[in-house]
Amino acid sequence: MTYILGIESSCDETAAAVVLDGRTIVSNIIATQIDLHARYGGVFPELASRAHVEAISAVVDQAITDAGIGCDKLDAIAVTRGPGLVGSLLVGVNYAKGLALATGKPLLGINHLEGHVYSLWLSEPHREIVFPVLVLIVSGGHTELLLMKNHGEYERLGGTLDDAAGEAFDKVGRVLGLPFPGGPNIERAAQMGNATAYNFPRSKRDESYDFSFSGLKTAVMREVTVPQVGPDGKKRGPEKNPKIRSDISVNDVAASFQDALVGVLVEKTVRAAKEHNVTEILLAGGVSANSALRHRLRAESALPVRYPPLNLCTDNGAMIGAAAYYRYEAGLRSDLDMDVKPMWPLTSDAYSE
Ligand code: KG4
Ligand code: ZN
Repeated sequence: MTYILGIESSCDETAAAVVLDGRTIVSNIIATQIDLHARYGGVFPELASRAHVEAISAVVDQAITDAGIGCDKLDAIAVTRGPGLVGSLLVGVNYAKGLALATGKPLLGINHLEGHVYSLWLSEPHREIVFPVLVLIVSGGHTELLLMKNHGEYERLGGTLDDAAGEAFDKVGRVLGLPFPGGPNIERAAQMGNATAYNFPRSKRDESYDFSFSGLKTAVMREVTVPQVGPDGKKRGPEKNPKIRSDISVNDVAASFQDALVGVLVEKTVRAAKEHNVTEILLAGGVSANSALRHRLRAESALPVRYPPLNLCTDNGAMIGAAAYYRYEAGLRSDLDMDVKPMWPLTSDAYSE
């Protein structure tokens, strides 16, 4: 029985959890900063690090207390090393180092994207996942399509060339005057809207497995904002603080935008799954909470589609503890002078140096 403490602080969630054998959540504590960032319409890095500093000790203590096993029973301390906001990552990594030093337990620095992948191993603890599988990670910072051939073995098929899927949701949400984060609020508005009301571009409809969402975002902005006219009398692009036209339906725009974005994600994911002969499709990351994405992928794929329960879609410590279990078994141990990796792609040799 291997108990791993997983600590996550890469963005705006301070989280810690204890996970047994990479599959069972023993405790799971998440302190979100959503209210703190809401008034800025996005994550404000300085505030995020400060809030992590304030929360981390209580969050980790609570995760250990809830687990009811005591610190001595832990086999390892895992922490998100990257990718993410540098100041936020440093808080978790430094805290984990202190704890590892104080307890003598091994330290493991874990890739945040790999954490999202392993949230799927927590959702149905007794079901075996047979490789190869196709993984679509869609979060606020990433959109990655990966062929996972074994534990720790990834081939990157494609990803976003500009905005991440969650970032596009958040930016469009801001333009529509919806509260932060945009994703869940656009989903809610879309449920009351007509997805065919606007014909937004489904960008990057090519043979590649790459995505591009900034054109879609700009198209939405142009459609919904009052055109700005320059001194030369010509129309200009959307400004920083755009004014929304009074004659648009927010629900219809939300539904049409969501439909365009989900359509591209689903089309490429289904095609990649066919081409690579995988056993199933795994959906992970904050945007995997989106029910339109879940349903459409299930409807359009002949293969099983799995996604985490809602509380494991967005950032949490349990996914870090789960990913760490397989790394721990494979012999990974990080040094106490480990640095953070704000840009850290998930590849098969991600942990090799
Ligand atoms: O995975 P996550 O918690 O953080 C990152 O690693 O980035 O993902 C957060 C992102 C945000 O952009 C948020 O708007 C999006 O996930 N999100 C959603 C939904 N719930 C969260 N997007 C679409 N529909 C949702 N229901
Ligand atoms: Zn994340």
